[in-house]
Amino acid sequence: MNSIKNIGILTSGGDSPGMNAAVRAVVRTGIHYGMDVYGIRHGYQGMIDGDIFKMQTTDVSNIIQRGGTILKTARSKEFMTPDGMQKAYDQLKKHSIDALVLIGGDGTFRGAVAFFEQYTIPAVGIPGTIDKDLAGTDFTIGFDTAVNTAVEAIDKIRDTADAHDRLFVIEVMGRDAGYIALNSGISCGAEDILIPEQVTDIDEVLNRIDIDERRKKSVHIIVVAEGDDYGGAAQVQDRIKNRFPDLDVRSCVLGHIQRGGAPSYADRVLASRLGYAAINAIRSGNTQVMAGIINGAISFTPFKNVIKGNAPIDPDMLDMITVLSS
Ligand code: F6P
Repeated sequence: MNSIKNIGILTSGGDSPGMNAAVRAVVRTGIHYGMDVYGIRHGYQGMIDGDIFKMQTTDVSNIIQRGGTILKTARSKEFMTPDGMQKAYDQLKKHSIDALVLIGGDGTFRGAVAFFEQYTIPAVGIPGTIDKDLAGTDFTIGFDTAVNTAVEAIDKIRDTADAHDRLFVIEVMGRDAGYIALNSGISCGAEDILIPEQVTDIDEVLNRIDIDERRKKSVHIIVVAEGDDYGGAAQVQDRIKNRFPDLDVRSCVLGHIQRGGAPSYADRVLASRLGYAAINAIRSGNTQVMAGIINGAISFTPFKNVIKGNAPIDPDMLDMITVLSS
């Protein structure tokens, strides 16, 4: 075991339910092993601004069940400049921080890769994003909760859609990744799921509506990821209205509701395991890696391999959607 004493911890990028549980695990594990843990508020921006405070075990009491992040978060443009990085490094030195735990998504690990090209400080990452768009882990903290939130909302929309015989286009989050759309869509029996990983053939989508109309299916639900190549819910709705002027078509953007709320049990367990693993990795000198979960076991992947390396979506899943909604 090495002599690392002072750990800095931050959450960065879009918050995700379960980030607090991860912060709790890191703080308590660090203190358990005799380390001092310093919270850095507002992600990398707080590193630049020196918004750093020493944490006690009681600072993380009563947060395992809370969404958001007690450390606050941000997407810092300044951190991606040489001047910003220098300021951030100076602040770490000023506070005698000798290792970092970084909790976030794609942007967080991009920032890490750029920073560690210039500066040497041991660090371990924890995947916290509702998008699940990172390599090196089967799940990211917050994904399970976000999908469950979307499922609950879509189920409610289905009730009213059925009552009015309406077609609904529902937009879920995912700028570059369709995992929330795919999983919520399958769970809610969506007729169509449009995701960035697959080019949308809008005529095929319209043809499927036509078939459902002719056999008088009372509900037709289309789930679209915000980053789909055709556009979001509004664009898809317009195109449908154009082709079927008599159809009662509505759209709904679920938006940031998917990022909040109490984390699911799965996200709390994942966050606790990864937070604990991150401190143990630092203690054993296994750094500049992200702690993830692969086939149920903790696994470590170098930062540079984590970015946007998400697994391709199984084409069988996409075929299945068509079969099951027929
Ligand atoms: O954190 C991921 C995410 O929720 C994406 O799914 C979404 O595109 C983006 O963040 C929204 O970011 P913001 O909250 O800055 O609008």
